[in-house]
Amino acid sequence: MEGFKLAQHIILIGFMGAGKSSVARKLARFENMNSIDMDIYIEREAGMKIPQIFALEGEAGFRQRETIFLESLFRRDRCILSCGGGVVTRDENRRALKLLGTVVYLQVSAAEALSRIEHPESRPLLNGDTPPGELLAARTALYEDAADIIVDTSGRSLSEVTSEVIKALRQVGAL
Ligand code: S3P
Repeated sequence: MEGFKLAQHIILIGFMGAGKSSVARKLARFENMNSIDMDIYIEREAGMKIPQIFALEGEAGFRQRETIFLESLFRRDRCILSCGGGVVTRDENRRALKLLGTVVYLQVSAAEALSRIEHPESRPLLNGDTPPGELLAARTALYEDAADIIVDTSGRSLSEVTSEVIKALRQVGAL
């Protein structure tokens, strides 16, 4: 899992509703670092909300935007990045993630993820043909492959998860 890194970002991956954005914000405050939310960045850059990007450019267009954004991170100062849940679906993205820094996979079950998501209408893939459980099952090995650290979030509060992430990052020398 561990390997050579070209940059030293801290990167959170995992399924929709895993808590990536919330953990990234809390971690950034705690460690006095900048955090970037990939979905928000892409929306600003595109001048459109994610459902609109999917409608106009398809999932492929959105994935291309994710890849371009990841490439730009090699030229950015160290930050905490929360990724969109599908970032691992492209091989080139998983390769980039490994080089970009320490990747933390926040694990969550499909049922718990769904109970946490406040705006399901803003996630086109939750309204698609594949049930969330199947989507998660298809992606689990990809998350694991990209991860340096795996943290189970089931039944845990934001503070508990953030503390465990910090502990794990300290153990590998990323903090
Ligand atoms: C997606 C997850 C979303 C967003 C887009 C696609 C996915 O991000 O990038 O709707 O494919 O799982 P969150 O994981 O932040 O909800």
